[in-house]
Amino acid sequence: MKNSAAFGTIAWESPANIALVKYWGKHGNQLPQNPSLSMTLSRSVSRTEVNWKPAVGNPVHRFRFEGRENPKFEARVLGYLDKISALMPFLSQNELEINSLNTFPHSSGISSSASFMSSLALCLVDIESILMNQRLAEPEFFRRASTLARLGSGSAARSVYGGFVHWGASEAVAGSSDDYAIPVNGSIHEVFRNFHDAVLITSSQPKPLSSSAGHALMDSNPFAKVRYESARNNIGELMRILGSGDQDAFIHLVEQEALTLHGLILASDGGKILMEPATLEIIRKIREFRTETGLHPSFTLDAGPNVHLLYPDEERAAIKAFIENTLAPICENNRWIDDEVGTGPKRLPVAGCRLPV
Ligand code: DP6
Repeated sequence: MKNSAAFGTIAWESPANIALVKYWGKHGNQLPQNPSLSMTLSRSVSRTEVNWKPAVGNPVHRFRFEGRENPKFEARVLGYLDKISALMPFLSQNELEINSLNTFPHSSGISSSASFMSSLALCLVDIESILMNQRLAEPEFFRRASTLARLGSGSAARSVYGGFVHWGASEAVAGSSDDYAIPVNGSIHEVFRNFHDAVLITSSQPKPLSSSAGHALMDSNPFAKVRYESARNNIGELMRILGSGDQDAFIHLVEQEALTLHGLILASDGGKILMEPATLEIIRKIREFRTETGLHPSFTLDAGPNVHLLYPDEERAAIKAFIENTLAPICENNRWIDDEVGTGPKRLPVAGCRLPV
């Protein structure tokens, strides 16, 4: 189908990201309680294709995931389109057919909401500019996509860019805002430019705590105020570390952030335990390996049991062997995903995105 002002197809690919300073706690319309900073991944991506045509009467949007109907996911997508329709008037005059897939398994513990919402927002901003016959300059295009992605899922605001990405108003980052993320790749030390992330899968069970429910628990968490303050300080410190290449400080800060996230979850009303025995075993092994070898692997965690092992490219051979020999056997069915820092989303040639692949 060829694009025209009346109907067409647009497709974008957008990566997942892993937060180094965590977003945990929100208010208002998807605004963060503290700034966060993440690393965009390379191979773990969502691909989303949107067909649009003028609606006759009230538009009925449709969503398919990996070639199939998915009522639960569709309800979330339709709710999102409804929510942003005041910001994007074309949504109430056009019918959308959305197809999406992930290159990583649903059960991998990699959050697909960030990569999916980012890819969808990029498609929508692209369609909007076609329909309005008004191409936004690149910074404005991505800023608008980041704002719209944020309204679907907070961490999705960061997946709109490659490299290291910051979201949330912070004194430490010029031009930062709660509304959208911005890339902070200007002065990243070379040791972090080719960083790796091995996602070690300890459990593929559905999470017992959704992100939304987790964020809401922060409203009554007695440690919330102190957490928001420490996250703010950690942003300043991480910016310094990323610029200087100070790997020991990186390890200290990133692991502290991960354990603080789980500490907050443990201390929340109802006290959820999201780590599995294998999570703790992997963390112990990483720390032992570090002491024994003097190498620089570190770990971080999402709000779930899987471990993200971060390490520099120059230590790849030794750390890959360590993963294969020692950590993979602790993982569920030996499963891990070999990923690394990526360059960010890209627009796809439409014919290349016919789904499923
Ligand atoms: C622990 O972005 O998934 O991964 O805004 O409710 O969609 P919603 O939450 P989400 O939360 C991510 C939480 C986190 C930390 C992070 O990515 O910063």
